[in-house]
Amino acid sequence: MVKFIVGVIIGILLVPASFYLYVRSGHAPVATSAPPMPFEQFFAKTALHATLRREAPKTRTTAGSPGELLAGVQVYRHNCGMCHGLPGKPMSGVAKGEFPPPPQLFEPDHMVTDDPVGVTYWKVKHGIRLTGMPGFHASLTDEQIWNVSLLMANANKLPPDVSAALQAPFGPPPAPHPPAAPAAKPAHRRK
Ligand code: HEC
Repeated sequence: MVKFIVGVIIGILLVPASFYLYVRSGHAPVATSAPPMPFEQFFAKTALHATLRREAPKTRTTAGSPGELLAGVQVYRHNCGMCHGLPGKPMSGVAKGEFPPPPQLFEPDHMVTDDPVGVTYWKVKHGIRLTGMPGFHASLTDEQIWNVSLLMANANKLPPDVSAALQAPFGPPPAPHPPAAPAAKPAHRRK
């Protein structure tokens, strides 16, 4: 009986001990170019799907408006395109260096047009841990997140004006404001 209990205890300790030695050995993949760690994909995918089932909103939580797809284009071009690409443009250097690689969301094979908009909204708002996908909760408003999520959901059937806006060349940076006119000196009151 004592031998059995000792065996069980050693068995239990062996797992964390081997894991510790594996990590300390310098063979665990930490570079973005290395293959995934054991269980990394299982953990990332299973945990994410379980959370999405629980937390992704079923319907839009902000009003929405007629220009929402065009508004989504502005959000996308400034916050997402460097990783997820723009139609007809080659993959960026940032995207090539990420692990896992960011899906090119305007490429037919990578589009998320089958995902409910609320699922995309959750991913954009909270980000996806263990990947390079940032959460935008601190930098975009809910309205902006819904607009860009709606753009992703319609990526395969965008109206022509929205497609054109997506592909328009980036303009020069806005001109600096002209120097403010010196404040008029208060006129001295005549005696
Ligand atoms: C720094 C790079 C980076 C930026 C910027 C970025 N993403 Fe991502 N995104 C990723 C990566 C990497 C993944 C892949 C995650 C994975 O494999 O699970 C991802 C995943 C996603 C997914 C899920 C795709 C799928 O197939 O399920 C969506 C949707 C998404 N991003 C939308 C956006 C939007 C919208 C923005 C801008 C507001 C954005 N991302 C900005 C890197 C980025």
